[in-house]
Amino acid sequence: MLCDGRLVCGCADPYGRRTLGDARVASVRDVWTGPRIVTLREELNAGGSRFCGDCPLKLPLQKDEPPSVRPLDAGALPSRMYIECTAACNISCDQACCAPETGITRTRQAGMLDFDLFRRVVDEAGAALVRIDFFNYGEAFLHKRAIEMCEYIKSHFPQVYLYTSTNGLALTDEQARRLVHSGIDEVTFSIDGASQSAYEKYRRRGRFDRAVATLRAMVDEKHRRARDLPFLNWRYILFTWNDSDDEMNRARQMAGDIGVDRLCWELTDHPENAYSRRFVPGSPDLEAIRHEVWDDNNLGNAVPGAMPRARIDVRAIWPGVPLLARAGRPLQVRTRVHNLSRRQYPAQATYGRRLVRLGAQLCAADGTLVDRDFARAWLPATLAPGARADVPIEIPTPSQPGRYSLKFDLVSEGIDWFERCGSDTTVRTLLVR
Ligand SMILES: C[S@@+](CC[C@H](N)C(=O)[O-])C[C@H]1O[C@@H](n2cnc3c(N)ncnc32)[C@H](O)[C@@H]1O
Ligand code: SF4
Repeated sequence: MLCDGRLVCGCADPYGRRTLGDARVASVRDVWTGPRIVTLREELNAGGSRFCGDCPLKLPLQKDEPPSVRPLDAGALPSRMYIECTAACNISCDQACCAPETGITRTRQAGMLDFDLFRRVVDEAGAALVRIDFFNYGEAFLHKRAIEMCEYIKSHFPQVYLYTSTNGLALTDEQARRLVHSGIDEVTFSIDGASQSAYEKYRRRGRFDRAVATLRAMVDEKHRRARDLPFLNWRYILFTWNDSDDEMNRARQMAGDIGVDRLCWELTDHPENAYSRRFVPGSPDLEAIRHEVWDDNNLGNAVPGAMPRARIDVRAIWPGVPLLARAGRPLQVRTRVHNLSRRQYPAQATYGRRLVRLGAQLCAADGTLVDRDFARAWLPATLAPGARADVPIEIPTPSQPGRYSLKFDLVSEGIDWFERCGSDTTVRTLLVR
């Protein structure tokens, strides 16, 4: 939803050219199930729609490639929404489509999202939503009631995963602390550099120390109140002027000192004359930081020592001997899990995500994955950096006798498997009689 109430199909339409409906005059349900969106779905199923115009997310079909066919009935309401509370910004990112000089705010019929309109839309769609991205173009926290909106969402629809991305420059320390208590699940700070001189080349007119101070205020408040939310990311876009080892290492160090949950690098392809030439696909430099790149996986972390790493020893009477089980009878396996990182692995989380558990994935004898969520075991307690714990796990043996393999890995629930960011797994043959 754009800040004037128009509903567009996604985040790749900065100037509101592909409007599906208008929440000022229609319900979300009417737009979501209305003729325009149904025709769009029909046309996409048939191979393409003129509605999509020059959308940069459009992927042309390869020769003879059949279009993906999705259900025309997408339910009464969407399960996910972006909410833009303003398209205005307090800085001007170099050649960005949302920089104020582009005139983006003139493409909106309102400067700031009306609170009553916001409430009406959230009240209607909230129960069906699993996630709200509370940003689009512009800087959300320029809206005077942005924090109140976050509070409203989380107090009325706590099941919604509420996420935002901010440049961090519109919030005072006091507002940053209030945002911590709003219930918001995750906040990303866009800080592309570790010094004023590198930062301001993209974030023009931005003040590096102010952005970092806001981030620090949120981290400190969270720690002071012993809260496990919100998860706080520092997201650093790599350009030609901030991709040196020096600048990146300074960011690693600062992120570690501040206590940020996650520092990640973002690879971009724009502006054309500015994106990092050092970290391009296929380069050894990119390979070296691959798991720390935002889009590579959901756990990778460039903060020193914070990359999730574990060793899982499967206790067997004879090392190397397959695990033996009888068909249909659960098998008790003893393991010992060693935290090889400098961050603790929480055994519990107040919000049911990001707790760490041991998983056993069922694979065929040749390693092909059969069931990723085959078995899970809780950690007995939060696992401190460097600590080990005995973690028994009950394996529900397959009903078909034969040779299988089990892959043991840790999982940050709702986020990702440790293997995805390079942690070693342990594989054992399972013989079922
Ligand atoms: C349009 S911004 C709006 C939110 C907020 N003003 C901010 O900068 O985080 C949304 C996202 O786009 C990202 N972004 C901005 N310029 C980018 C670029 N050249 N390449 C990739 N992502 C970019 C931002 O870092 C942010 O995460
Ligand atoms: S800070 Fe965000 S909204 Fe503002 S110009 Fe940069 S990317 Fe766009």
